[in-house]
Amino acid sequence: MAGGMGKRLQPSTSIISKHLFPIYDKPMIYYSLSLFLLSKIKNIIIIADQDNLKLYKKLLGDGSKFGINLTYMCQNKAEGIAQGILIAQDKIKNKKVCLILGDNILYGNNLMKELDLAKRNKVGATIFAYYVENPSDYGVVKFDKKFRVEKLSEKPKKFISNYAIPGIYFYDENVVEIAKNIKKSARGEYEITSINKAYLKNKLLNVHLLNRGFAWLDTGTLDNLNSASNFFMAIEKRQGLKIGCLEEIAFNNNWIKKKDLLSIIKKMSKDSEYAKYLSKLIS
Ligand code: G1P
Repeated sequence: MAGGMGKRLQPSTSIISKHLFPIYDKPMIYYSLSLFLLSKIKNIIIIADQDNLKLYKKLLGDGSKFGINLTYMCQNKAEGIAQGILIAQDKIKNKKVCLILGDNILYGNNLMKELDLAKRNKVGATIFAYYVENPSDYGVVKFDKKFRVEKLSEKPKKFISNYAIPGIYFYDENVVEIAKNIKKSARGEYEITSINKAYLKNKLLNVHLLNRGFAWLDTGTLDNLNSASNFFMAIEKRQGLKIGCLEEIAFNNNWIKKKDLLSIIKKMSKDSEYAKYLSKLIS
């Protein structure tokens, strides 16, 4: 899902989606797309408004340069994340699906293992929980003393827990049917939390805790946007390794070959640090 108005980032978002803003050295959407590639998920639908879809297409094409298949679908009115499930229903019905919000960035040592575990789960839904200072900005999960899920709430005004739910969700084949039955919330949106609540009601919701070694960065505000850029700059500079570099992940997955990398590099300027990094991968 790469829609939304990015209201808090105006005027910058008045002509372009925030998911296309750079986070340090690459567009924001690369980071969320990288989670699909790391999960070995190849068939990906990008959902956004009509104007921005054109820009995504220009940037990412049909996905073949990253060894993936990209389809684009339009969300005319920003009526919530769960609406994405309905927009994509013909493509995803009877399939398991992973939904990622284009402005959520996850980074950490055990990430691939966590994604793999979630993907392999056959029944129900798997979501994540992450301790944050400002839970009321998010979907929140309350655990009981034995760390079983007690309650979910979307942006609770009254404190219920510090555990926020990051924007990455793995669902079984029933998600389309569930999405068809949810109602709009008070803020006029089809909430993803309503889908998660339905799974919880059926005792089919798994919540994996992402511990403090993980970074879950949200890029919805100007401050967060800046912090995310600085965060990735610090790590990438220190190691000389890139985070969320789609071409590199595709190359490591064996989805693209050296000659594909070469043709990508050829189309870029020699002065681009990103292109220099891709050249280093080959040598
Ligand atoms: C959305 C979801 C919320 C989730 C958050 C993650 O919030 O509704 O449950 O925790 O993404 O970023 P929104 O983008 O509407 O603020």
